[in-house]
Amino acid sequence: MTLQLGDVAPNFQAETTDGPINFYKYLGEGWGVLFSHPKDFTPVCTTELGEVARLKPEFDKRNVKVAGLSVDPLKDHHAWAGDIEETQGHALNFPLIADSDRKIAGLYGMIHPNASETFTVRSVFVIGPDKKLKLSITYPASTGRNFEEILRVIDSLQLTARHSVATPVNWKHGEDVIIVPAVSDEAAKAKFPGGWKTVKPYLRVVKQPT
Ligand code: BEZ
Repeated sequence: MTLQLGDVAPNFQAETTDGPINFYKYLGEGWGVLFSHPKDFTPVCTTELGEVARLKPEFDKRNVKVAGLSVDPLKDHHAWAGDIEETQGHALNFPLIADSDRKIAGLYGMIHPNASETFTVRSVFVIGPDKKLKLSITYPASTGRNFEEILRVIDSLQLTARHSVATPVNWKHGEDVIIVPAVSDEAAKAKFPGGWKTVKPYLRVVKQPT
């Protein structure tokens, strides 16, 4: 069964470059990003892991714990870590899971047999504090992901969770947002005392709440 938005993200125990973890304990009360890459010692993956390490302070600011995963053994992860630091200028600063028995890959549907029988694809799962799946995306092995985009989505998800707003096309942090249709004009008056612009009754634009 494919993991779908709103489903509870399964808990697991894992061996990682930071030692054994219980995933839920690692996430604590905050948000999480679990992402898989196809294989250690490969070029695109090397750039992605370096980029996530560079962006770690941005994930921290948003109270998001990050974990990477592939089906390579722990000894390969440790050996590869040196290459990542050397070539990308950023050392791994988050746990990289060694899922050699593919248990976690199976739980999260990270192996797509028609793409590869053996490697995990480039999956990303964003998990909320309620441990439910808020976003999932899948990229092929040949395309490196844009982790700035993952941060942008997390900003949107966190605004929705806190303020009953949605974000329009190409929105970036700081730009105007949309009052969700479930909020009546009456309720919106209390939530957004500074007012909003009604473009259509279903399209109400408001300054991004802080
Ligand atoms: C890469 O990370 O460069 C890669 C990994 C698996 C297949 C193709 C490319």
